[in-house]
Amino acid sequence: MDDFVTQSDLAAFAESKVNLPSDDAEAGRVRVKTLRDRLTQHIATNPDFDLVKMLHAGSVAKGTALRTANDMDLAVYVRDAAAPDDSQLVNWLRDRLREVYQGFLDSDQIQAGTHCATVTFKSGAIRNVDIVPILYEGDDDDFGFLIAKDTGDRLLTSVRLHLEFVRGRKVAYPRHYAQLIRLVKWWIRQQRQLDADFRFKSFMAELIVTHLVESGTPMTSYLDALEQVFGYIFKSGLRERISFSDYYKPSELPSTTEGVIEVFDPVNASNNVAYRYTESDRERIVNAAQDALGAIAEARYATTKGRAVECWQIVLGPSFHG
Ligand SMILES: Nc1ncnc2c1ncn2[C@@H]1O[C@H](COP(=O)(O)OP(=O)(O)OP(=O)(O)O)[C@@H](O)[C@H]1O
Ligand SMILES: [Mg+2]
Repeated sequence: MDDFVTQSDLAAFAESKVNLPSDDAEAGRVRVKTLRDRLTQHIATNPDFDLVKMLHAGSVAKGTALRTANDMDLAVYVRDAAAPDDSQLVNWLRDRLREVYQGFLDSDQIQAGTHCATVTFKSGAIRNVDIVPILYEGDDDDFGFLIAKDTGDRLLTSVRLHLEFVRGRKVAYPRHYAQLIRLVKWWIRQQRQLDADFRFKSFMAELIVTHLVESGTPMTSYLDALEQVFGYIFKSGLRERISFSDYYKPSELPSTTEGVIEVFDPVNASNNVAYRYTESDRERIVNAAQDALGAIAEARYATTKGRAVECWQIVLGPSFHG
């Protein structure tokens, strides 16, 4: 018997509900480019300016953003020697950005948040641009200390190499790779709506999916691919170390870490992206994956379309109608 919920149902749902429409993504990228260009002009007339350059980072740049995205990430490289203490950094950054965008943005459109500055536009699908500082000493590969916008952690990394990492996989696995990431992120979003304590960072999800795809997970059927992702999370318990050898040798990884979950930054073998995750965070993820797995299995054996859709709603939320 054919499944009541098929690949084309999932693909249609992804297209209409999950994915950021390409026009919105494009409008966002144009906006980010305008912000970057203005900084470049400012630097041309003020060569000693403390902000060195900007790079579009995050999901809109990578093509993995959800329709529900309300912010874009723009990394700003700050001359390390000029940066004040961490406690002052965001207010200082806000003031520098107000100098750069004077006459282009009202000063109240540029605010300091907890760990990043935010530019708010008055219209458009994605109105906020989070400007995340990276303390920089001129590294050729754009490595610097990223101040994580959710935690304030200082992370030695390169958002440019992250973009290259993801773009390379998008070329190797056209279309389905990015789609699978977005569907998994969508599932994460549903879990968060049900449980405010559920944590599963987008970047970590992206790396786990990348690992599975490279281990041979077939992606052309989203149904099978999602089943594989949840099956992996459930079976491994996320206790297996995940890393990539694009930018370092496996021997450069630490032999052990304190991390309950280990998913290493593909560009820095010392940076476990999951290092803050606790045992209860891990259990929540594994339990949710088990529920999703059970729901997908049940959907396969459902005797009515209505029941199959109900099962899939456990995975994709109430807006999935089959
Ligand atoms: N722990 C980390 N270590 C290194 N780089 C990180 C880390 N967390 C985030 N980044 C960088 O910041 C970027 C944005 O990460 P984030 O997890 O906010 O996801 P996103 O892809 O923008 O997804 P979302 O759609 O949820 O905004 C990543 O692509 C990566 O370059
Ligand atoms: Mg983001």
